[in-house]
Amino acid sequence: MSITLRAQVAIIGAGPSGLLLGQLLHKAGIDAVILERQSGEYVLGRIRAGVLEQVTVDLLDEAGVGARMHKEGLVHDGFELLVEGKRHRIDLHALTGGRKVMVYGQTELTRDLMEARAELGLRTFYEAADVAVHDFDGRKPYVTWKQGGVEHRLDCDFIAGCDGFHGVCRASVPRDALREYEKVYPFGWLGLLSDTPPVNHELIYANTDRGFALCSMRSMMRSRYYLQVPLTDKIEQWSDEAFWAELRNRLDDEAREQLVTGPSIEKSIAPLRSFVTEPLRFGRLFLAGDAGHIVPPTGAKGLNLAATDVKYLSDALVEYYAETSEAGIDAYSARCLRRIWRAERFSWWFTTLMHQFPDEGAIAGKFQIAELDYLLNSEHGRRTIAENYVGLPLDFGD
Ligand code: APR
Ligand code: PHB
Repeated sequence: MSITLRAQVAIIGAGPSGLLLGQLLHKAGIDAVILERQSGEYVLGRIRAGVLEQVTVDLLDEAGVGARMHKEGLVHDGFELLVEGKRHRIDLHALTGGRKVMVYGQTELTRDLMEARAELGLRTFYEAADVAVHDFDGRKPYVTWKQGGVEHRLDCDFIAGCDGFHGVCRASVPRDALREYEKVYPFGWLGLLSDTPPVNHELIYANTDRGFALCSMRSMMRSRYYLQVPLTDKIEQWSDEAFWAELRNRLDDEAREQLVTGPSIEKSIAPLRSFVTEPLRFGRLFLAGDAGHIVPPTGAKGLNLAATDVKYLSDALVEYYAETSEAGIDAYSARCLRRIWRAERFSWWFTTLMHQFPDEGAIAGKFQIAELDYLLNSEHGRRTIAENYVGLPLDFGD
């Protein structure tokens, strides 16, 4: 037995990219089906960053899923850099003419998108096995998968590859049709989530001799902390006690005093990577979000970039169906890549500025401190950090 379905757009992956794309297309009257390899609960179990740029907040509103974010999210108009034991505030609001960021976990955002999709009765297939994309270089692409042992086929006009770094879409493109740029950093981030009040009302990014640390949060009762660790470290080596002791070592006196510790509810180590695929369009297949690019998490650009890719893609598809014009889909890749490279550069630079690079010798640390000394004591310096952190406007440089 086999089942054949039809939709205008097949979206592979129900992470933030796929779900937001589905929502934006639905608003525009375009019919899309989402295929996701995992279960919904599994997708919601992944803990990722949670700082949204204004552009992303606006997009979630446009998609009609912003209500809970506005109620429960925390608006931040600054953050702190801890350098040589001293904190320096980056006043985002004052330095960017009133822009801010919203602290709202990716898990919550994903849940809002999933619920909106379920309420609208839009088609999503979770636990879709062996998803394969076909004929995207022609005019009649299709997708096949197995659901509960039954073969399925979805005929469509376009395929959106929103299936993350390890997805099937990028992997299905012939090797000679794309170019990949990659940098893997010589350390990882050990993250811990706990139901404890955050150490500070704003995020603290710390450059210390012992390595980078980040104090973040999900709410006024839930904290998220990170430590730079060698790539060789294993999660079993890090008891909660060891984590808290090391975090304390990387904080200033005031934060050390304020820190409230408690049992972890999640703890994991993630490698850091800069990665970009060019182009992002192959005939009728488009890559969006982590399927096309990865940033190291310093600066929290990953989710925001995914959101803007999807905005460009939905605009392009709306233009195609409304005006039978291919101009938008032709411009998709270049438009996205320009924004992506700017965010890649910022994330790489901020990572390089804040972490210890033991293989580069003592002089590397001296250069960092000198650069931070310059940046933090120059209004231009602080502004350059602030305007990249809040995110450049969608039409920047046009
Ligand atoms: N078939 C179907 N679904 C797949 C397949 C496949 N072969 N491979 C992967 N997927 C699914 C994954 O299970 C996942 O749910 O695609 C989804 C991709 O989601 P994400 O990895 O969250 O990627 P994206 O939606 O682009 O979100 C980007 O995630 O990693 C962060 O920093 C990043 O915050 C950013 C966001
Ligand atoms: C997080 O809260 O998980 C977080 C915040 C800011 C970052 C990275 C991660 O730069």
